Amino acid sequence: MTTSPADLDVQALVAAARSARDRAYAPYSGFAVGAALLTADGSLVTAANVENASYALAICAERAAVAAAVAAGHLEFRAIAVAGPGREPVTPCGACRQVLRELPPGPGLVVVAAGAEGDALLRTTVGELLPHSFGPENLA
Ligand code: THU
Repeated sequence: MTTSPADLDVQALVAAARSARDRAYAPYSGFAVGAALLTADGSLVTAANVENASYALAICAERAAVAAAVAAGHLEFRAIAVAGPGREPVTPCGACRQVLRELPPGPGLVVVAAGAEGDALLRTTVGELLPHSFGPENLA
């Protein structure tokens, strides 16, 4: 399902992602990221990145948000905002792009990338961030 500009409160979604940065556990990188996921029923689920002394085990904010949303019973998402430090938009890493492509399967999820402050936003879709992607339909 795609989300039209008219019915998506981008500013509220970005504000929620920025606020979620406060709960990041990022002692190794110092790079706090927040994410806010808008579900199909209009719920907002937020999360932040969680790092580990075994550095490679860090969980990005976006994937933490997907896990939290699924655990709360949400299986379809409309949009996600991600906010990192600074003023420039932080876009999801490759692994997160793949995970965000899953629910619902396909390119339609709206992705809004932001920094911690300022007006610079990148509004895009999973399809633009991850073209020619692999998904559940390929397993059929
Ligand atoms: N990180 C995220 O949480 N989301 C992104 O989109 C980019 C990177 C985290 C992972 C790690 O904890 C820190 O930022 C530095 O890479």
